[in-house]
Amino acid sequence: MVEISLEIPTYNEAGNLPVLIDRLEGLNLDLEIIIIDDNSPDGTYEVAERLAQQYKNIKTLKRPGKLGLASAISDGLKLASGNYVAVMDADLQHPPETLLKMVEEAKKGNDIIIASRYTDKGRIEKFGFIRRLTSKGATFLTHALLRETRSVKDPMSGFFIFRRSILEGKKIESSGYKVLLELLVKSGSETKVTEIPYVFGKRTLGESKLTVGENLKFISLLLMLSHYRPVKFITVGIVGILVNEGLLFFLHTYFAMSLLFAGMTSIETSILTNFLFNHFWTFRDRSVGGWVRGVLKYNLVALPGAIINLLTLLKLSAITHYLIANIIGIILAFAVNYLGSEMIVWGRAKRR
Ligand code: GDD
Ligand code: MN
Repeated sequence: MVEISLEIPTYNEAGNLPVLIDRLEGLNLDLEIIIIDDNSPDGTYEVAERLAQQYKNIKTLKRPGKLGLASAISDGLKLASGNYVAVMDADLQHPPETLLKMVEEAKKGNDIIIASRYTDKGRIEKFGFIRRLTSKGATFLTHALLRETRSVKDPMSGFFIFRRSILEGKKIESSGYKVLLELLVKSGSETKVTEIPYVFGKRTLGESKLTVGENLKFISLLLMLSHYRPVKFITVGIVGILVNEGLLFFLHTYFAMSLLFAGMTSIETSILTNFLFNHFWTFRDRSVGGWVRGVLKYNLVALPGAIINLLTLLKLSAITHYLIANIIGIILAFAVNYLGSEMIVWGRAKRR
């Protein structure tokens, strides 16, 4: 049987909460509702208490102060008794009616059901240019860094249902907004994930709590969930530069090898050592599908990076110092190499 506990985290949502609860109660869904309030100055908790007296399926939790969305979800989970847990915002930007379809998908046996702004008829009613861009940019970065999210169109969604057992023995570690990312990464490859389109509405009352701080938390969550792969990749890259320079010096000065051959040898050697370091360290939980293939692919991925590096150096040196132009070129090449490594060279999980 599918029993659903619906978590609603609130911070200053006194005006929105009664409207949301009325609409939810009208849906004829068998829900347990858990409202987690962080001692909102606008008295949201008192509103929640009143609603809990009116409707028997409501539980409330009051925390001492604003401790963040993810930890509210994680604390609310302790009160949940359903075998599925749903999470939605209190501000009516998530239409309660979408839950009907989502619950249907849970009944079909799906493990994670995501209300999605980016599938089929899903969309956003009103976002400013900057917010739209950050949303798309964040989704792109997430897809690039976390392969477990690549099949999901809206991994940044804050409206979803999950089978409670996928968190068994694990806990929510993030403190920011993106609990769904953690679920997707931690739930393993057998998880059945599906998306239901919805229209992310306008906020009519109160204001968004999504701040610059939240965006920084998102970046650190991405790094944590990716096991700091970009950082490791940069470290390997720096080691590669040392190998390249060192070998060039050795071959050219001590062995009097021509610059062309010494250069080619040291470039290729550093590509190979980088490949090995990345294989056994950065991407140790990934597969290349055979050594020869892996090395060839890695060389192929290094090529466009090198071309971009060179073109940037040539173009930008007209307007700035050539060493600065080269650094910008190196950074761009790094980004291209990293994406290629994530998606093409080490694109698959290791079989266990
Ligand atoms: N208890 C608690 N504590 N609740 C909080 C806190 C907190 O620190 N911060 C925010 N909330 C509640 C809000 O009251 C609201 O019900 C919900 O969490 C979402 O907050 P908003 O501030 O309205 O978020 P948003 O509309 O900017 O972002 C939403 O959409 C994003 C997709 O673009 C959220 O659903 C995000 O998770 C989602 O990624
Ligand atoms: Mn909102």
